[in-house]
Amino acid sequence: MVAVSKRSDIAAFLAMDVLREAQDLARAGRHICHMEVGQPGSRAPLAVRERAKQAIDEELLGYTQALGIWPLRERIAAHYKENYDVTIEPAQVVITTGSSAGFILSFLATLDAGDVVAIPRPGYPCYREILKLLDLQSVELPLDFENGFLPTIEAVTEAVEQKGAKALLLASPSNPTGRMISGERLNQICDYTTKNGVWFFSDEIYHGLSYDAEAATVAGAGEQVIVLNSFSKYYSMTGWRIGWMVVPSFLARRMEKLNQHLFISAPSLSQYAAVAAFDALDELEGIKRQYHRNREILCEGLVAAGFTNFAPPDGAFYVYVDVSSVTDDSLAFSQTLLRKHGIAASPGVDFDRVDGQRMMRFSYAGPEADVVEAVRRLAGVRF
Ligand SMILES: Cc1ncc(COP(=O)(O)O)c(C=O)c1O
Repeated sequence: MVAVSKRSDIAAFLAMDVLREAQDLARAGRHICHMEVGQPGSRAPLAVRERAKQAIDEELLGYTQALGIWPLRERIAAHYKENYDVTIEPAQVVITTGSSAGFILSFLATLDAGDVVAIPRPGYPCYREILKLLDLQSVELPLDFENGFLPTIEAVTEAVEQKGAKALLLASPSNPTGRMISGERLNQICDYTTKNGVWFFSDEIYHGLSYDAEAATVAGAGEQVIVLNSFSKYYSMTGWRIGWMVVPSFLARRMEKLNQHLFISAPSLSQYAAVAAFDALDELEGIKRQYHRNREILCEGLVAAGFTNFAPPDGAFYVYVDVSSVTDDSLAFSQTLLRKHGIAASPGVDFDRVDGQRMMRFSYAGPEADVVEAVRRLAGVRF
């Protein structure tokens, strides 16, 4: 048999597998309520689309500098001043091919093969698999109903001091739970990692999408902090494949060389268009109000269907819900929901290989009609 690499023997991203099957069923004529991936149901804001059309006519759209076009880096730096009152130099901003590329660049720039990274469980599945692909090890911070699905300083300390973690990766608001870490706790964790020479990768991709309080950033908080962000979520630009990082100044040149070789540059059309995203706040806030409404409909519907135990969804656009009353196999359950009832949702095992069999994640980022219909179907099901 032809040999293939051991490193590529990774787990599937199950949410994407569900998406594939859901799209196949939809193509065959089935009506599917899409709640499987974290994908806004809205197009990119009008100003972004207009800027893209203009760029197609007026710009060369070739490669850009590896770190990204200067106007976008400047606009992102200004966003930190406007939004968080944090001063960032444009030279610290690295434009990436979605935050997905940002993870690869961050890990390669700071860690060597075999190094250990602490990640949340449940957490975004790609953290675990990207680390594996790069010959890095992960230790998991177990999050559950008891600790409110929030990482504690004690768990971080243990990961560093007992399990040798050289880096910590956290997302707030989180995928899959939507939970948000308070500014106070985030700073406490960041102070600890800084004092102990541990890298802190802060995945802030769901910033802008919190419903009761604003999310805190650790951008610019120290020489061992990398912030990852993206236009995919709040800015409704998933398929434009464009994101950014804020890195310590001394790391920018290293990031530049890595990006030159790995990706050359992020998509130039998306870079030009993304500059306009920060001035589309009225439209984006309107989209967010819809998420807020969808969240209410979904939470009420889940409770009415008997699923009363879920992580309080502070932000993002997910509800992570306990379905142990009806199944101990979330993958099989997600297949039944999709194939029999036309509801596409993600199995908990995608996010948590230990306790995820009893959990499901529903995304409410799609159209309200999908959420309403999903809830109606759930109410009619006898599991
Ligand atoms: C927590 C988290 N981080 C990163 C990503 C990757 O997003 P992108 O590469 O589109 O920026 C996602 C996508 O769902 C996510 O949920």
